[in-house]
Amino acid sequence: MDIKVNFSGRSLNYTEEEIAAVVEVMRNADPLTQGRYQDACQEKFRTFNGAQHAFACMNGTAALQMAADLCLLNAGDEVVIPSHTFTSSAYPFAARGAKLVFADIDPKTRVTAAEYIEPLLTPRSKVIIVPHLYGFVADMQPILALARKRGLLVVEDACQAIGAEIDGKKAGNFADIGIFSFHSHKNLTTLGEGGMITVKDESRAKIIPMLRHNGHCAYEEKREDYWRPAMGDLDFPELEGRRIWPANYCLGEAECALGIKMLDRVLEINAQKRARAMQFIDALSAYPELEFHRENSLRHNYHLLAARLDGPASLRDAFIRRMFNEFAIKCVVQYYPLNRYPFYQKLGFGQADCPNADNFFDHMVSFPFQHSLTDSECAYMLDCCKKTLDGLRADGKR
Ligand SMILES: Cc1ncc(COP(=O)(O)O)c(C=O)c1O
Repeated sequence: MDIKVNFSGRSLNYTEEEIAAVVEVMRNADPLTQGRYQDACQEKFRTFNGAQHAFACMNGTAALQMAADLCLLNAGDEVVIPSHTFTSSAYPFAARGAKLVFADIDPKTRVTAAEYIEPLLTPRSKVIIVPHLYGFVADMQPILALARKRGLLVVEDACQAIGAEIDGKKAGNFADIGIFSFHSHKNLTTLGEGGMITVKDESRAKIIPMLRHNGHCAYEEKREDYWRPAMGDLDFPELEGRRIWPANYCLGEAECALGIKMLDRVLEINAQKRARAMQFIDALSAYPELEFHRENSLRHNYHLLAARLDGPASLRDAFIRRMFNEFAIKCVVQYYPLNRYPFYQKLGFGQADCPNADNFFDHMVSFPFQHSLTDSECAYMLDCCKKTLDGLRADGKR
């Protein structure tokens, strides 16, 4: 079947300038990893986001693995996280011995909030993870207040929310640790993989380069010969007296060079996606059964455009089926509640009292919304969406 509007695996088209930046690295950079492009990319990102410290890494998952390390978890520590999120927001914490406690989401914004987190906190709670899903920044201040009161760490998973902000403060810059992804789907992508971790605290910042690169570090004292006793030193990254196993999470110079260029354009991309989302949502206002989260402010970057289709769950499936079979438009469903996957059930995290997350997932439709959609593809999708909803309404009356 010839798909007319695909839920593309790629978010955007690169400009000639962005392509040239990568080619320049291919031709001339030495080294090809951990060189001046990495330093410049981190520094530019740090300023862009208003972060104290920023470190590039190979993807959002690598950033989350490092975040989980930096939380210094002990077996049985509890990590509160919404069930409605991408899997790698969660499993790095479980892999380090934490018990995952699933929080619900707000039915309107589809992200978690303090009121869902607070009842789950116990003396074993150690970390709260807040994913800004779909590109909407969760209400951070009440969550931070809860955390402060109880001495908990907060990790913001801003993988989908680059550049989104509340009152001038950007996603990922509220909590102790901020996580970003430059994956192929994202509003900023560095050739499909890429990520960034930001931290506020100096002692965490100090060990990230070692954690990111196999425990390698420079010798502290000046040496007589640069090759003795070895080219570089090697040790465990240590935090609060605890050793952490390192890994290699580095991002290549070509990706970093592209990241530098794309940071100039990502806010424009966000604004264009937001404007397009507003047009699409408003054009469907005569169909209130399709419930969007409408947020015409910098707080949402519309990384994704998702809606809940009111009615029986079978109606959502009928909608997606018709959009695909009759109009060749590929909508999808996303973020199966984690407790419903065998992966989490096998870990003993199959239980969750998250009715909003379950209800949203069972009725949700995620529309193709890559930045590279053309105006005519959008107009076609809108027209077909109306026809499909009209058809479903007519069927309902029969
Ligand atoms: C909310 C969320 N968290 C984590 C990730 C993991 O990022 P990556 O794919 O770069 O590893 C993603 C995206 O893929 C995501 O959307």
